[in-house]
Amino acid sequence: MKRLHIAVVYNAYTENEPEMPDDRSGTSDLVTMVRNVARNLRRLDHRVTVLPLAHDLFRFQRRLRRLNPDVVFNLYDDVVHGALYDMRLAALVRMMGFPMTGSPALALGLTRYKFMTASLLAGAGIPIPPNTAILETLSAVRHHKWQFPIIVQASQEHAGIGLDRSSIVYSKKALRAKVREILVNYRQPALAQRFLPGREFNVGIVGGNRMRVLPLAEVDYSSLPGEIPPIMSYAAKWVESSTEYQNTKVICPAEVEPELAQRISDVALQAFRAVGGRGYGRVDMRLDESGDPYVLEVNCNPCIDEGMGLARSADRAGISYPKLLQLIVRAALERQPYDMDVPMFPGASVGQLVATGTK
Ligand SMILES: Nc1ncnc2c1ncn2[C@@H]1O[C@H](COP(=O)(O)OP(=O)(O)O)[C@@H](O)[C@H]1O
Ligand SMILES: [Mg+2]
Repeated sequence: MKRLHIAVVYNAYTENEPEMPDDRSGTSDLVTMVRNVARNLRRLDHRVTVLPLAHDLFRFQRRLRRLNPDVVFNLYDDVVHGALYDMRLAALVRMMGFPMTGSPALALGLTRYKFMTASLLAGAGIPIPPNTAILETLSAVRHHKWQFPIIVQASQEHAGIGLDRSSIVYSKKALRAKVREILVNYRQPALAQRFLPGREFNVGIVGGNRMRVLPLAEVDYSSLPGEIPPIMSYAAKWVESSTEYQNTKVICPAEVEPELAQRISDVALQAFRAVGGRGYGRVDMRLDESGDPYVLEVNCNPCIDEGMGLARSADRAGISYPKLLQLIVRAALERQPYDMDVPMFPGASVGQLVATGTK
C-alpha cells in the first residue's frame, strides 16, 4: 500500500470520567489506545496526525480541512450516556468528503438503538432472542406475555452500561422494578428479552467489500460464583476490582464443533451486513438451551485495543496488529457500492464552511 496521510480522530471529552479509580472506561485508556494505533500506523510508514475533538467542533472542522488527509481513522466513541455523537461525527467526516474507517453514520446510529436493530434483524430472518420488546412506559409491561427469565437493559446504551446483578428478572414485579429504574436513571426506554442461558460468543469481522470472519472468541463465566448472573455487565467489562471482572475470561479461539462455528459465523456476518456495517465489527451472540445461536448485539466500530477483542481474534488468524490496522484502512479506501462518494460542499473553502456553521 502506498504511503498515506491518516488523521486519527477521537473524542477528548473529560467531563464524564468514571467516578471509581479502577473503572477502565474513561478517556485515559482511550488516549493510550489512540497513541498505540498512531504508532502502529507510523510503523507501516504512513504519516499520522492525531486529531482530538473536545468542545470546539468548528476548530476541529477547520483543522481537518487544513490537514486534508487521505483517510480519517475514526476512533471516536461516545462517552456521554445515551449520546449519539459517533453517528454525527461520521456523517460530518463523510460530508467533508474524506474516506473514513469503519462503519458509516447510518450503521453507527442504528446499532445504538437496540430495538430497531433487533427488529431489522428479525425482519431479515436473522435469529434474535424471543420475547424481545421495547418498554417506553411502566404500563407497557402488561401488554406482553413474558416467559422468564428476562434480561432488561437500557435500549440505547452500549458497553454494559446499565447491566448489573439485578438485570435478569424472574417475575413481573421484578421486571417492573427494573424497567422503572432504567426509565428513571437512563431516561430512555428499556429493552427486555428472554435471557438465553447458553454459551456466549464474540464474532470479529474485518474487511470492506469482501469481509471475513475471524476465529470465534467465547466468554467463559465458569469461575463466576453461582449468585452472580453470567453476563457481560458493566462491572465485568470495566471495573477491575470486581468479582465479575476477575472471573470473566475470554477464550480465543473458542472450542466449537466446526458445524456450529460455521453457523455462528454465517449468522454474525449476515447481521453485520444487515445493519450496513463496514470495515470491522464484532457481533455478540449467545446459544439458547437447545444450542441454537442468536444475535444479541451488533457492534460497529468496536474496540480495537491491541491484544483484546477484535485484535486478539485477528491475531489468532495470523493477522498482526499493524496488519489489522492496514486491512481497516484499506477497507476505508475501497469504493463502496451505492455510496455517493462526494463532498457535500465541493467548492466551499474552510472559511465559508465555518461561516455558515456559526451564523
Ligand atoms: N437475551 C440475552 N440473553 C442472555 N444474555 C444476554 C442477553 N442480552 C444481553 N445479554 C448479556 O448482556 C451482555 C451485554 O449485552 P449487549 O446486548 O451485548 O449490550 P452491550 O452493548 O452492553 O454490550 C451480553 O454480552 C450478554 O452477556
Ligand atoms: Mg455487547
